[in-house]
Amino acid sequence: MLKFKNITFTYDDKNRNALENVNLDVNKGEWIALVGHNGSGKSTLAKLLVGLIQPSHGEIWLENMLLNDSTVWDFRKRIGIVFQNPDNQFVGTTVEDDVAFGLENAGIERDEMLKRVKESIDKVGMQNYLKHEPHQLSGGQKQRVAIAGVLALEPDVIILDEERIKAK
Ligand SMILES: Nc1ncnc2c1ncn2[C@@H]1O[C@H](COP(=O)(O)OP(=O)(O)OP(=O)(O)O)[C@@H](O)[C@H]1O
Ligand SMILES: [Mg+2]
Repeated sequence: MLKFKNITFTYDDKNRNALENVNLDVNKGEWIALVGHNGSGKSTLAKLLVGLIQPSHGEIWLENMLLNDSTVWDFRKRIGIVFQNPDNQFVGTTVEDDVAFGLENAGIERDEMLKRVKESIDKVGMQNYLKHEPHQLSGGQKQRVAIAGVLALEPDVIILDEERIKAK
């Protein structure tokens, strides 16, 4: 389903590779947990996957599609990401509007949209917060809403970039 092939990436202002020759294969239906210390490159891998940054070397494949300028929007359509800090991800003024936004953007018709909004918010257990402002929720509740927004879009691949665990 997903293939990282010899991926190397260096941030412009760094003289050290953030990722070096990474190879990863993920099969359809598989759940993978990537574990690594702070700064080991987990979020960088997620950013590469949706073309927010481009690898210095290597290829990224989604089934038989190579990631490049002409396929990046197809990648983004098929991959949902909940970033580490969902605050930057909210666009709606209420929980239900926020989840609906992505669907409206994707041109999903109204009845289907309302159904998906309800179902995905139920799935994450936020049905009592429909009219709440995303920014006024707790950290975990924000993550639930961000997850609902991604679930509603029914992507083929979901990336959950977990909240940072602060080292003492
Ligand atoms: N925008 C950026 N510009 C320059 N360097 C960056 C940038 N983002 C991350 N880095 C560097 O790249 C390396 C990998 O960072 P990344 O965010 O991918 O780590 P991570 O595994 O997600 O860490 P964490 O567990 O803390 O979330 C780190 O050394 C970090 O300092
Ligand atoms: Mg990270």
